[in-house]
Amino acid sequence: MRKQIAAANWKMNLTIQQGEQLLNDIISKPHELAAHQLAVFAVPFPYLQMAAQKLAGKTNVFVAAQNCSNKKNGAYTGETSVEILQSVGIQYVVLGHSERREYYNESNQFLAEKLDICLANNMKPIFCCGEPFAIREANTQNEFVAKQLDESLFHLTATQLQEVVIAYEPIWAIGTGKTASSAQAQEIHAFIRSHIAATYGVEIAETISILYGGSVKASNAVELFSQTDVDGGLVGGASLIADEFVAIINALS
Ligand code: 13P
Repeated sequence: MRKQIAAANWKMNLTIQQGEQLLNDIISKPHELAAHQLAVFAVPFPYLQMAAQKLAGKTNVFVAAQNCSNKKNGAYTGETSVEILQSVGIQYVVLGHSERREYYNESNQFLAEKLDICLANNMKPIFCCGEPFAIREANTQNEFVAKQLDESLFHLTATQLQEVVIAYEPIWAIGTGKTASSAQAQEIHAFIRSHIAATYGVEIAETISILYGGSVKASNAVELFSQTDVDGGLVGGASLIADEFVAIINALS
């Protein structure tokens, strides 16, 4: 059975005190995770250790970094390596978020390097893809997303690919309140899975978790997550509100 994942992306929000309070509020509320369901919290770098310690011992709950370096170690001021993340108990990292692609010029090729370093060192990537509005308007989103996957992921072995979680996040739906309809989400998730199948085979493609991101909230999570090829969500704004995120966790079907 594929993993279903509710992943919080706090982005550059909250102080550490607010973040700690939010985690306390979330874990104190009733939430249920079956054996194949995970909750992941992608928090700012300085909060990683606090979050990892607070959530240690909670079954199927993990902390993620929001980025990592493409280099192993050395003179790269301001960068954070996979090894550094692992030394504070981190097992997941979000890579290629559209905000990093847009504001920090992260290319598909650069992300391929980050994926390689993660996978060589047992760090699990949550790899983001997704198209801007103009591409959706031109109805070329499948080609756009296929190129992102081809150039960043498709050099991986099947075994490596199976360690990657994919998050499809249409840029026009991020932080806009404009969610893709569940039919739109299902359509492109099915395309992503078929595109993986074309290279790696159906059996491998069926094991890859594909999350939807873009204005996921408690009120639309059940409908989105009930789609065959939607295996959970990567959640920005609504992950900053305890009741909302707990409801999103509980919406994993
Ligand atoms: P919102 O849920 O705020 O639209 O953000 C989505 C996102 O970018 C998660 O990575």
